Amino acid sequence: TWTPDAFVDKTVAELKEKIGDEKVILGLSGGVDSSVAAVLLHKAIGKNLHCIFVNNGLLRKNEFGDVLKQYEGMGLNVKGVDASARFLDDLAGESDPETKRKTIGRVFIEVFDDESHLVENAKWLAQGTIYPDVIESVSATGGPSQTIKSHHNVGGLPDFMKLKVVEPLKMLFKDEVRRVGASLGIDKALLGRHPFPGPGLAIRILGDITPEKVAILQEVDAIFIDGLKKWDLYDKVWQAGAMLLPVNSVGVMGDERTYEKCVALRAVESTDGMTADWVNLPYEFLQKTSNDIINKVPGVNRVVYDISSKPPATIEWE
Ligand code: XMP
Repeated sequence: TWTPDAFVDKTVAELKEKIGDEKVILGLSGGVDSSVAAVLLHKAIGKNLHCIFVNNGLLRKNEFGDVLKQYEGMGLNVKGVDASARFLDDLAGESDPETKRKTIGRVFIEVFDDESHLVENAKWLAQGTIYPDVIESVSATGGPSQTIKSHHNVGGLPDFMKLKVVEPLKMLFKDEVRRVGASLGIDKALLGRHPFPGPGLAIRILGDITPEKVAILQEVDAIFIDGLKKWDLYDKVWQAGAMLLPVNSVGVMGDERTYEKCVALRAVESTDGMTADWVNLPYEFLQKTSNDIINKVPGVNRVVYDISSKPPATIEWE
């Protein structure tokens, strides 16, 4: 029978044998898969694993700093690269969802390629690919590796893609990855994190992206997610987030009429993201969250809750 401990022992031995004293590069996303892959490789080859964590400026509030600190605390050899300005500059004025995704994918590859050149004499590219990614190579939850695959024909192969590939989680399902992570001593909160799309908040800001809109959505999202945790609802939900809608609506504050933004909250139950049901969150929670958002986030005067299931709706709004 399969056990996480036996998997770790066997895989670490295999990785040592395969990689020897060569250098490996790995892109961390803050998600479960890349984090578990990193810790596994670190156990096998230590400082020869060079991790790169890119801030695309579209992460959750404080995510880049917090997660980077957490990775450092785990002993990983990690470099945080804040490329926010580069991503946001290239996205400016763009409102087509697929073009936004492509732009983010392209800039990610450019940044990652630049950074991988700074690791001298690297021989391997490690990826947190898991079994569902392998069987469904067009997986919707593709992350950076999928992004890379769909862009490698643009202007020739970037150098890091010419490296030998190592994918230690390739035969595992998500729940097995979590169990391996637990056996490696990775923080439970990290292992229980909701999925988060590679393009991040870009596909939750409908229409064009500005730094101001990102800042508003980060605040709204943080209130929603912190609230779910406080009310002990976070682990009962498969994925949750907020969407910034491209409409203003009329409101009233004191004697003043306002004309401000509207956000939609979304929380779903799912097993793989292919189908999903909206979650029946308690009215008291929704009421408190809506009040908190409208009172604390300048520029937002209306909150709605998304009660659409997938299909026919999707989880993200773009
Ligand atoms: P949809 O919106 O297609 O989302 O119902 C299903 C799951 O996939 C995630 N998602 C993405 N992940 N790059 C990603 O890495 C993307 O472009 C992307 N689009 C959607 C979404 O967050 C959900 O978990």
